[in-house]
Amino acid sequence: MIILGINAYHANASAAIVVDGRLVAAVEEERLNRVKYAAGFPAQAIRFCLDQAGVKLTDVDHIAVPRDPWARIGTKLRYALRMPRFAIERARVLKKFAGIHDDLAAAFEADPASIRAQFHRIEHHRAHMASAFFVSPFEKAAVLSADGLGDFASSMCAVGEGPQMRVLGEVTFPHSLGMYYTALTQYLGFWKFGDEYKVMGLAAYGQPEFLDEFRKIVHADEPLSFRLGLEYFTHQSQGPDMSWREVDRTPVLGKIFSSYVEKRLGPARKPEEPLTQRHHNLAATMQAALEEVLVAYWKGLAQRSGQKALCLAGGVAFNCVANGRIFDSTPFERVYVQPAAGDAGLSVGAAFTVNHQVLGKPREFIMDHANWGPQFSPAAIRAVVERADSSDGVEIGELDESDLVKTTARHIAAGKIVGWFQGAAEWGPRALGDRSILADPRRAEMKDILNRRIKHRESFRPFAPSIAEEAVGEFFEKTHPSPFMTFAYPVRREKRGVIPAPTHVDGTARLQTVSRSANPLYWKLIRTFGEITGVPVVLNTSFNDNEPIVCRPEEALECFRRTHMDVLVLGNFVLERKPSSADVEEPAERFAGREN
Ligand SMILES: [Fe+2]
Repeated sequence: MIILGINAYHANASAAIVVDGRLVAAVEEERLNRVKYAAGFPAQAIRFCLDQAGVKLTDVDHIAVPRDPWARIGTKLRYALRMPRFAIERARVLKKFAGIHDDLAAAFEADPASIRAQFHRIEHHRAHMASAFFVSPFEKAAVLSADGLGDFASSMCAVGEGPQMRVLGEVTFPHSLGMYYTALTQYLGFWKFGDEYKVMGLAAYGQPEFLDEFRKIVHADEPLSFRLGLEYFTHQSQGPDMSWREVDRTPVLGKIFSSYVEKRLGPARKPEEPLTQRHHNLAATMQAALEEVLVAYWKGLAQRSGQKALCLAGGVAFNCVANGRIFDSTPFERVYVQPAAGDAGLSVGAAFTVNHQVLGKPREFIMDHANWGPQFSPAAIRAVVERADSSDGVEIGELDESDLVKTTARHIAAGKIVGWFQGAAEWGPRALGDRSILADPRRAEMKDILNRRIKHRESFRPFAPSIAEEAVGEFFEKTHPSPFMTFAYPVRREKRGVIPAPTHVDGTARLQTVSRSANPLYWKLIRTFGEITGVPVVLNTSFNDNEPIVCRPEEALECFRRTHMDVLVLGNFVLERKPSSADVEEPAERFAGREN
């Protein structure tokens, strides 16, 4: 039984393939077409999934799409009458969905009649919830999806058991935690798609001094619900206006906060204006108000479902700071967040919905690692390395696994910045030890060095640690696994000075716990670094420079060439750049205005 899940015509386009109840492959289109947050039709992602499964498009039995035009049709029509421009845009997208069969046939140069798969339209939030619960380790759990907007709802919760889920409640347009966070992110001067996580990082620098006002902007309502103060927003009257930047086709969301926000909170920050303590406090308040609502929602869900396990999906599930509070603030004891919790994950969710809820198949798959993307053979990697000739000014060595790990750990301990490219690419927005840039977490200056030489990010944004799973309790105040970097925990007070580079200003860190079973090579590297330094933690940031995370070895080599990385480990090859004065004296000003 072959089921193809496709998230198309929307940011974070992706594909996933499930064969006989097990996920075989999943990848975002952006990794393959190199356009960040790529939308449109994910032809390359679909091709990769079919190739991984060793099947042709005509072999596929079911195709699942996470969009249901009939869901909440009454609400959709009501708003269509009020917002004609928004309605036209919706109609355009729905027309595209209606033509997905033809797009598939065209992309694969197939006769449309030869595609025998049955098509299924899965409601957006049901697909989100399925993307977490059906691949979680839990037989029974409470499930929550929360995002900006999908099929005219922003949130849904359920109780899942075995291959079924029973919906307990939903929150519909225009009330939305995602819209709330995005609107205030815009107000704070961050307009790029996906900038919300920047404000989450900024929040740690402030105090929630505007909470009384923010409780009018968003507040928990009856159990399993929340409300926006609609006078602070425009999306309910004008529609969320999504367009695509000409230059790189990245999505742009039009302004969704109203002039009332400025009347109540003062003028919005312009992107070029400096960040002041007031902005820090606004960000802190924004995060605090979100957490108040989420804690109330989680508590209500724990009570209604009677469950101790929770699965989270939707863009709000990436709020690792809020997620870190679940264990102290709610009855939930175990939490699963799938690595692609956002809309990319819908392809997985739609496919598993068909497998379990449509076809009634039992569950037999757990997503316990994130390596569902492209992998490259040693021969393919060797061919790329051979292109890095001496003109690159690098020394090249080929090592067996044991020496590779020792050499890499020594480089990191010596303060080198190491590009680490191994195995299959990660699914989801986080590099988790296969397409990562690694550095020494013990060096406080490492954050600035990484920003100056490679990442060019805002200085207030934290870097993350990867820690050997068995050492978590030694360094952190909580030990619940965070294999996909979706929780922030307080670093133990006495350890904050030991790993200053990835410890945020508020003493927390967005950690990745690395187990031997999920990623043996990365685990060995971290353990070996621990043997050398006494600290089984490495700083881990995504392997990219103002682009989607590298996918192919060629892209890793290109990124290494362009940036001031010291070492590139590509499979079993170690490429070490001979030091030059540029690496030491790189002026920070050169990168002013760049970010990623
Ligand atoms: Fe969504």
